[in-house]
Amino acid sequence: MLNGRPCIVSLISSRNAAHPLSVRLPELGEVLYRDQLSDEAAAKIGPDVDVLVGASDLKVPKSELDLYPNLKVVADFGVGFDGFDVKEISRRGLRGCHTPDVLSEDTADLGIALLLDITRRVSQGDAFVRRGDWPKKNFPLGRRLFGKKLGVAGLGRIGKVVAQRAEAFHMEVGYTSRTPKDVPYQRFEDMEALARWCDFLIVVIPGSPETHHLVSDKVLDALGPDGFLVNIARGALVDTQALIKALKERRIAGAAIDVFEHEPYAEEEFFDLDNVVLMPHQGSATVETRAAMAELVMENIRKGLADEPLVTPIPGTRKD
Ligand code: 8YV
Repeated sequence: MLNGRPCIVSLISSRNAAHPLSVRLPELGEVLYRDQLSDEAAAKIGPDVDVLVGASDLKVPKSELDLYPNLKVVADFGVGFDGFDVKEISRRGLRGCHTPDVLSEDTADLGIALLLDITRRVSQGDAFVRRGDWPKKNFPLGRRLFGKKLGVAGLGRIGKVVAQRAEAFHMEVGYTSRTPKDVPYQRFEDMEALARWCDFLIVVIPGSPETHHLVSDKVLDALGPDGFLVNIARGALVDTQALIKALKERRIAGAAIDVFEHEPYAEEEFFDLDNVVLMPHQGSATVETRAAMAELVMENIRKGLADEPLVTPIPGTRKD
C-alpha cells in the first residue's frame, strides 16, 4: 500500500500516456512506472507493491518479481505470457492474469489482412502508385485465396477464428494442434506435413521454449516456391535467418509477418525484399480490443486485491 491505496508498478512505458490500461490504472491505486524507477528505488518501494503490471511484449523475469516480496497480483496486458516467469509466479502463490478471447477476432482479422496483402500485393501496389511507377511499368499479378488451402498451425482461440474467416473466403482449412479438435478440418501430425499440404501457412501457436524455431528450413521448403507464410504469433516460432534465405532464394513465394524475434527491431535483411510484408506487432491493436483488454485487466486486479479468484488466470497459476 502507498498513501493508503494499493500500490501498482507498471512495466508499460510511461511515455505512452494514452495507453488504454495506463489511463485506467489510477482508478485502482497509486501507479508507479518502472521505467521511471532505478533498480534501487524499485527495491526500496518493493515491500509496498501489491500489483505488478506487464504485457505480452514485455519481460517479467524472476529478478523483477524478487523486488516485490508482498505482491498479490501479476497482470499481463495480453494473451501470451511467454515473457512471464509463470513457474515463479505459481511457486510464490501469486495470482496472475492475462487477456484471452477479447483479442481473438481482431488478431485473426490481421492475419487475414496480411494474407490478402501478401497475395494481392496491397502494400507493394501502394508503394508502386506513390513512386509514380504506374504509367511506366507493369504491376505483377497476385494470387487468389478463393479455393486455396490454408494451413492453420495451432487451432487455439485465435486459430479457430482464422479458420472461420478462411471458410468465408471458400478456402479449405487444415491444421495442427496437440490434440484433435472437434472441427470439420483435416488435422496434420506436424508443421512440415501441414506446410506440404497447404498453399498458405499461418502461424498461431503460443511462444515457448518448445515452439522455438518450429518453422524451420524444412518447413519452408515443404511450403515451397508457390507457398506463403503468415506469422501473427511470436517471432521466435520462425527461424528468421532461414526465412530470410528462403525469401531471397524464392524457395517460398512470400511472407507477411506481424511479429519478430527481437522486437521492436526487425532484421534489416527484410527491408530490401519485395516478397515480404512487415507490421509492428499490431494483432490486438484496435481501439475496441485494447479497451476490452484494459477492462479485463482492471477486473482481474480488482478481484486479486479483494483476495478473490481471478476472471482469467494465467494457466498454471493460482485459481482459488
Ligand atoms: C500485444 C500480444 O501486442 O496478446 C498478446 O499475446 O502479443 C499482444 O496482444 C501486447 O500484449 C501489447 O502490449
